[in-house]
Amino acid sequence: MLLSSLRASFVEAFGTSPTAFSVAPGRVNLIGEHIDYLGGCVLPAAIDRQIRIACRPNGTDDVRIQSDHSGASPVSFPVTDDRVREGDESWINYPLGVLGEYRKDGVTCPGFDALISSNLPAGAGLSSSAALEAATALIVEWLSGEARSAAQRAALCRLAEHHYAGVPCGIMDQLVVCAAEEGHALRIDCETLETRPVGLPRGIVLVIANTGVQHALGDGEYRIRREQCAEAEQILGVASLCQASLEEIGKQESQLGELLTRRARHAVTELERVEDFILAMAANDSATTRRIMHEGHVSLRDDFEVSCPELDCLVEAAEEFGHGLWGARMTGGGFGGSTVNLIEAKQVAAFTAFLSEHFYVTFERKPDIFTAHPSPGAQIFPASAGDA
Ligand code: GLA
Repeated sequence: MLLSSLRASFVEAFGTSPTAFSVAPGRVNLIGEHIDYLGGCVLPAAIDRQIRIACRPNGTDDVRIQSDHSGASPVSFPVTDDRVREGDESWINYPLGVLGEYRKDGVTCPGFDALISSNLPAGAGLSSSAALEAATALIVEWLSGEARSAAQRAALCRLAEHHYAGVPCGIMDQLVVCAAEEGHALRIDCETLETRPVGLPRGIVLVIANTGVQHALGDGEYRIRREQCAEAEQILGVASLCQASLEEIGKQESQLGELLTRRARHAVTELERVEDFILAMAANDSATTRRIMHEGHVSLRDDFEVSCPELDCLVEAAEEFGHGLWGARMTGGGFGGSTVNLIEAKQVAAFTAFLSEHFYVTFERKPDIFTAHPSPGAQIFPASAGDA
């Protein structure tokens, strides 16, 4: 939605104009999956699908918030409300959680009205929750006059996700959503939180294919993977699986058992893939980026077991298409969601049609496929600053 129509919807909902727009992108992860919470390095990119919030202080101690899609009247709650919501209202936990974590950090936010619009599909593995958190965080900082760095903001948003949405996520999503740079992926060292922009090869387009299978990270499998990693760390005697080696895992295979051996092997091999992938991109070596992304997918499918038939189908189709392909894999937490594909610009139309057809043959419906541009992190600006 253009900011002019967001402004108009805000006026319709609240009878007055917004004073600021807060805009936060979704993300894809190119490589480095399920290792952010192990302190590994990851390589996500923010995308030009966003959550946009128009807001205005309302002179009360309440937040009135409305989602443009719901058509319902605004939901209202005190800025100090701490009651976690369930069911249809559970999306409120994100803004509520961000307000709560900033409050614990000493920030007092006045009441405000907010209208949310989004062209970022929810449940598609593209971090719509991190985007909603980051957009809310910027509003809290704007209205309270208490600015935070991108890393501090990401850390507070992550806590909101842990404590209010119940997902024990790593820092990747929130940090890339807050700190990404236009035209680049972001290498994040999840141990030190150091970030470095990494350029994509010239003429390569990001294609995202959404299976339409809604993932729900809160449903327990994500937490189980984290627990299994912690168990493997204990057996291997390492503080993080990212400090283990394939050799040690091999030596301890009988203590680890078959399942934990596979979980640990994913972490160790995935960590190596991230650095190799960055080098291969810099060397313009598409055969290697393609191999690495495929190996990453296979590892997530077989060793970490977070893929699903729909994701596997889209990755197989991309591999079968082949022409101009720099890599295809599932992206994000898994159990549904999307694949990310790197493909030469001139192949995008044929590639998209091929993927769609291939998916249709098996699942009798079309996936949602779209291109994305690596985009800047979340921003807030005065509503008077014009339209976009
Ligand atoms: C989700 C989590 C992230 C990360 C990915 C898997 O997106 O929010 O922290 O663990 O899954 O790489």
